[in-house]
Amino acid sequence: MMPSATPCRVLAAALALVLAGAVATAAAASDPVARGAYLARAGGCFSCHTVARGQPLAGGRALATPFGTFYTPNITPDRETGIGSWSDADFLRALREGVRPDGANYFPVFPYPSFTGITDTDALAIKAYLFSLPAVHAPNRAHDVPFPFSWRLLQSGWKLLFFTRGPFRPVPAHDAAYNRGAYLVTALAHCGECHTPRNVLGAARSSRALSGTARGPDGQLVPNITPEPRTGIGGWQKSELVELFRTGKTPEETTVKGAMRETVEDGLKYLSDADLAAIADYLLAQAPIVHEVTPLR
Ligand code: HEC
Ligand code: HEC
Repeated sequence: MMPSATPCRVLAAALALVLAGAVATAAAASDPVARGAYLARAGGCFSCHTVARGQPLAGGRALATPFGTFYTPNITPDRETGIGSWSDADFLRALREGVRPDGANYFPVFPYPSFTGITDTDALAIKAYLFSLPAVHAPNRAHDVPFPFSWRLLQSGWKLLFFTRGPFRPVPAHDAAYNRGAYLVTALAHCGECHTPRNVLGAARSSRALSGTARGPDGQLVPNITPEPRTGIGGWQKSELVELFRTGKTPEETTVKGAMRETVEDGLKYLSDADLAAIADYLLAQAPIVHEVTPLR
């Protein structure tokens, strides 16, 4: 016979778990550094700003694009070679507007067209976290990008054409979970920076959002992640998506490679169940786009 106390114990254990979770979340919410560490994971800052086996966030990673090769800068708090002398306003302006402290434009290979959606509170928590890390002395490497693409002033025109300034505004018609998913996918976790096809000037084609491209990072094919049954993820269960975000495993028991493996390893796997579920729900709620992504010949 089952001991009669069991349901009670189960309930108590469940309650304890919920409470522990709530306490951890509350602690993280009140401590900007802990919150910032979590948000930096969600934002994938580590992948781009770290070279293989190098010092975390000290930059130097090469990013090959059709316009040339860019090298990420050092975002540790070193005053000389990193961002140690930056004010909060400098940091907010970089993410929100894609503008350097000296007023020059960033290139959109820094995903500020997505990061513009990050709220001030979240951006400043990320900054607090970055500034809590050891300063690494590592001078930035100049980009290897030919003229005219190397010309930062040209980016002003690009911005006029293609850039919509944030922050992200929740859609009142949708609930909090949907808006959380929207915030993560479109802003902080910037899924569209890889999954949305680009035009010849390198701008995301918003009408084709998340429908995949054969011209992904390092020439990798990036699949269609709209819920279209044949060419997208329409056949996936929510639990299968969450499993992929947590472990990199697909329903076919393969493991994602390249840029998506990094996205999982350096970021997504650290996120809470609630955030991963919100991302999955958001993807499955988008309008399906028929787009068969086939390798370039
Ligand atoms: C897809 C790669 C990529 C990701 C992801 C990325 N960055 Fe960057 N970041 C860059 C590149 C490239 C530049 C330099 C752009 C330029 O020179 O115009 C840059 C520049 C910056 C700068 C300006 C530094 C300076 O010295 O001017 C800051 C600050 C920054 N990134 C912070 C972040 C934070 C915080 C995150 C995570 C939320 C992040 N980045 C994620 C590629 C990336
Ligand atoms: C740095 C580029 C990059 C970013 C950022 C990125 N992805 Fe991916 N994603 C890829 C690539 C490349 C693949 C294909 C991996 C492979 O072929 O093994 C992929 C595969 C996937 C798949 C598997 C689809 C299939 O049909 O097999 C899903 C689902 C997915 N990504 C969702 C996301 C979500 C959600 C985000 C944002 C939280 C995201 N990705 C951010 C590059 C990226």
